Amino acid sequence: MNQFFDQPIPPRIDMEVEKWDLMGPDPEPGIVPLSVADMEFKSPPAIVEALEELARSGLWGYAGWGDRYANAIRSWVSRRYGWEVQRDWIIRTTGVVHGINAAVRAFTNPGDGIVIQTPVYPPFYRSVRENERTLLKNSLKLVDGHYEMDFADLEDKLSRPTTTAMILCSPHNPVGRVWTREELQRVGDLCLAHGVFVISDEIHCDLCQHDHPHTVYASLGEEYAKHCAIGMAASKTFSLAGLACGNIIVPDPDNHAKLVAEVARSGAYADSAFGTLALEVGYEQCEPWVDQLVDYLGENYRYLVDFMAQHFPKVWIAPLEGTYLAWIDFSSFSLDDAALADFLEQEAKLYLSHGINYGGPGFMRLNLACSRQVLHAALERLVQAAKARGFV
Ligand SMILES: Cc1ncc(COP(=O)(O)O)c(C=O)c1O
Repeated sequence: MNQFFDQPIPPRIDMEVEKWDLMGPDPEPGIVPLSVADMEFKSPPAIVEALEELARSGLWGYAGWGDRYANAIRSWVSRRYGWEVQRDWIIRTTGVVHGINAAVRAFTNPGDGIVIQTPVYPPFYRSVRENERTLLKNSLKLVDGHYEMDFADLEDKLSRPTTTAMILCSPHNPVGRVWTREELQRVGDLCLAHGVFVISDEIHCDLCQHDHPHTVYASLGEEYAKHCAIGMAASKTFSLAGLACGNIIVPDPDNHAKLVAEVARSGAYADSAFGTLALEVGYEQCEPWVDQLVDYLGENYRYLVDFMAQHFPKVWIAPLEGTYLAWIDFSSFSLDDAALADFLEQEAKLYLSHGINYGGPGFMRLNLACSRQVLHAALERLVQAAKARGFV
């Protein structure tokens, strides 16, 4: 029994929680959704206590951030990733997606080509399309049960004269890869050679399995750092997604000024006081909690893999190097995407994120950030529903 992660969490039906609301207006009692990427774990006790105190104060006027916030980020990133951030590189946003959209507008022009590596987190597609840029898909390759970048195709797309940016998902949602330093360097060398700006979304970086260390793109070297913006947040790490707080770190002063101006143009000027405090307490006091979290997520992944191997040997699951998202190939069920979603949701009461929305037909993404008991119950429902259908 883990004191933090095996605790039962109260249901959040009709509480305006996205993941729970996606189950529809009247979900069956006892069902926990395993879709949207936030956790069914409470934040670490130190954060809960700090936010309780702020809540009790009843004083929540316009908030800013200062040295304490910047130092918490600098110290965390230095300790964990060996990257030395300066205070004036940090740009606060309402979230990393807000920052990516602002970066797309700041560093590219309408019509420009922007490369993303598919299948990928759906807001990446939207940040390109809704800002009227041209989407260039560099599909990941599945080689011997392992996702890899297709560098030949990447070079082809980066070398087009109209390509001006690439949005990197590092670690990658949904395929669970933690890119190695060598892979990132290859990406970086191609981007530098072709004058392509890198927007590196590293929101999942704190959730890497211990044998897959994260490399911050900007830490590759000065030239790489000059032409990139790094998205980071405490939200995935500490169960804070509803507090609307993200950071974009831009080392080059001119690029930093451009992004500051674009974030200002988007009308954002007020920060969440709760988000600020939670990040500070998390980064300053809750590192051991994160290390335990990563272990627990790794155990959940192995539990999933063993269970599926026993009951559904034809279902393939991508190796999990980072994130808490398992990327599962259900194509052996021989259902089209709509029928697969219907089967899982209506018959197995299993609410996952639909792979088709990421550019992965036949796949589903399962959120492993839940207690083992919740995971086990979900998988048992899948077995029962599959038996009723004659799938097993
Ligand atoms: C890769 C990636 N980037 C960004 C986000 C969301 O970030 P934010 O809530 O800070 O906008 C998510 C959430 O699932 C994500 O997976």
